[in-house]
Amino acid sequence: MTLTHAPQSDVDLFTDDILMDPYPAYRDLRDRGGAVHLGQLDAWALPRYATVRQALGDWETFSSSGVALNDTVNQMLVGTVLAADPPEHDTLRAVLSDRLGPRAVRPLHTDIAHRAALLVDELVERGSFDAVTDLAVAFPFSVVFDLIGLPDEARPNMLRWADATFTVLGPMNARAADGLGSLGEMFHWLGTLQAADLKEGSMGRDIFRAADDGRIRHESCIPLLSAYAAAGLDTTINAIANAVHLFATHADQWDLVRADTTLVPGAVNEVLRYDAPVQVFGRRTTTDSDVDGVHIPADSQVLLLFGSGNRDERQYPDPDRFDITRNPVDHLSFGYGTHACAGQALARVEAQSVITALAARVSRFDIGSPVRHLNNCVRGLESLPITGLDPGRVGTAGASGSL
Ligand code: HEM
Repeated sequence: MTLTHAPQSDVDLFTDDILMDPYPAYRDLRDRGGAVHLGQLDAWALPRYATVRQALGDWETFSSSGVALNDTVNQMLVGTVLAADPPEHDTLRAVLSDRLGPRAVRPLHTDIAHRAALLVDELVERGSFDAVTDLAVAFPFSVVFDLIGLPDEARPNMLRWADATFTVLGPMNARAADGLGSLGEMFHWLGTLQAADLKEGSMGRDIFRAADDGRIRHESCIPLLSAYAAAGLDTTINAIANAVHLFATHADQWDLVRADTTLVPGAVNEVLRYDAPVQVFGRRTTTDSDVDGVHIPADSQVLLLFGSGNRDERQYPDPDRFDITRNPVDHLSFGYGTHACAGQALARVEAQSVITALAARVSRFDIGSPVRHLNNCVRGLESLPITGLDPGRVGTAGASGSL
């Protein structure tokens, strides 16, 4: 069996220590090969940019029925867009794409930019705040929650539910086991919703309309709603938190953004490349396959290491340098291929709006100690105290916050 010749590692990528800073472990895996057998998980890690792309581009071999790294959750996700393969996948995704594609999102730019400017104005007036809870969480909540049209009663629970949705996608360690309860609660609550509970004209209401029109089955409504609710929040929250942290710690890069806000879209790409909000998703092989000369047997669990591929020196020179001028449009943080993030247009507008609004009002961030949030699949912060700001005012964000 070729397995004896395959690169091997006994690393557990999901310990607290490695989740705090996974990049040295990723580098070690990349050095070992394009596909590395992880003994502890009995699974295959793809740590290089090219091998992650290869798997993302071949859904027939790398099936999303293994999107979670444990069987319990893969069973729970049957019928969701994330875990489906074509043709079922395409039917479900079409319902979401109608409302999330660039054409649908473009008319929202002005409103989202305005909301970002108002929030940033308010926080700057305060002078000190928490960049995670007061900005990175508050902003996507104010935008996405309304777009989905969910009833307000879910607000107090939704962050915990969204976080659980990602942590349970990891291997069934203590963190994932803890998250199962919250995931069950979310599905139970979503299951009580009727079309009339979702706001008229919202994305959520459209899902029920698609079922009434016969485009999807009624059983698909709740799994699709869950995709919006979970995927639309935790990811963007962590992207915004990571952005503030990176600009607070790389003042030279912040100066570049402030001097020329046409750099903002490229800066968002670099934030996403540097610290992928989703570090890993899984796949299951349907047949034997060859990845970079390594034989992976059929029915194997595979880990797509987005966070490692984004730091691959074979793809990005000096990958550990945060450099907003490199504009890495090909980063892996939104995935690629059949399952490429359906909400990326919205996520980009949200992140660009916040950075543009901050650039108009803040020339320097003084920060306290950041607290990292540990989740099996998502990388972000629990807290980032902003202890002081140098406003370096060039007008209010409200006046210049459009994209
Ligand atoms: C910076 C923010 C975001 C990041 C980093 C992100 C990341 C990702 C990634 C990596 C995938 C690919 C999954 C795979 O290959 O298995 C994905 C899929 C998806 N994302 Fe996002 N996402 C973000 C924001 C959003 C938003 C705002 C929404 C919706 C409101 C959204 C909705 C979805 C959906 C529905 C899918 C499933 C697509 C499919 O399976 O075809 N995402 N996202």
